[in-house]
Amino acid sequence: MAGNAFPQSALDGLGDAYPLAPAKLSHAIADHPLLSLDALAGLARRMRPASLEHNAAVDLPLGISNAETPYTGLDVHETIARIETCGSWVLLKSIEQDPAYARLMADVLGEIAPVVEPVTGAMLRFEAFIFISSPRAVTPLHFDPEYNILFQARGSKTMTLFPTADPEIVSQQFFEAYFAGGPRNLPWNEAWRTRSREISIAPGEGIYVPILAPHWVQTHDEVSVSLSLTWRSEWSFHHADACRMNRRLRHLGLTPSPPRIYPANNRVKSYGQRALARIERLLPAD
Ligand SMILES: [Fe+2]
Repeated sequence: MAGNAFPQSALDGLGDAYPLAPAKLSHAIADHPLLSLDALAGLARRMRPASLEHNAAVDLPLGISNAETPYTGLDVHETIARIETCGSWVLLKSIEQDPAYARLMADVLGEIAPVVEPVTGAMLRFEAFIFISSPRAVTPLHFDPEYNILFQARGSKTMTLFPTADPEIVSQQFFEAYFAGGPRNLPWNEAWRTRSREISIAPGEGIYVPILAPHWVQTHDEVSVSLSLTWRSEWSFHHADACRMNRRLRHLGLTPSPPRIYPANNRVKSYGQRALARIERLLPAD
């Protein structure tokens, strides 16, 4: 039965797509008072500064590295106040550190548990993010290590999505470096565009973004506010640890086989990684 955030059609659409295909979903939280720009400016002031990111975002190349991302000189609070004109992108990370947003996250994700959990098991490590963007702001090509539903609350944007763990776009070495703490932005090649899928969303619409699916985003001609609610699964933690194990094997001069994509699992490699990491934690530091 549908709840307060999703109509039944959205739950059905998510069920048809999950976990590897994207889906456009409708939702009922666009006008939630916690998602107004004023409420979010207040939230940013209450949050840990380390949870706030911002950068210049208009006319960015799609394949810019994290290290090359430019800044405007404004601080994050000035950026939110001037978002209409300052050509920027703001990320509020882990907003569940605020109890009101933690409740919203738990309520909304609770509605999809009956769809998700029969497929990928328990929903683990919930996290919530807010994106506040100027008109025409670009989020360059990257992937995320979580399952994600992006809810549009204000303005509109287009996400261009590629297949999960597309091996031409994300090399195994890139995955291995990422799960060892490396950057997430990917290089861009125009030839990849032909196998992308574009999904545009306005307030009241959202996107299920499959785990490990490369994507880039551009907002349209107004200020955009989006809420991202994410979760992990046991499969996703095994995949990440298999990438870490492969990094070890590659450092030994081997060429390990890539971690397998759902529904195949990567338990043998991930248990090896976890055992080695436990031993390393017990060893005295140099
Ligand atoms: Fe993303």
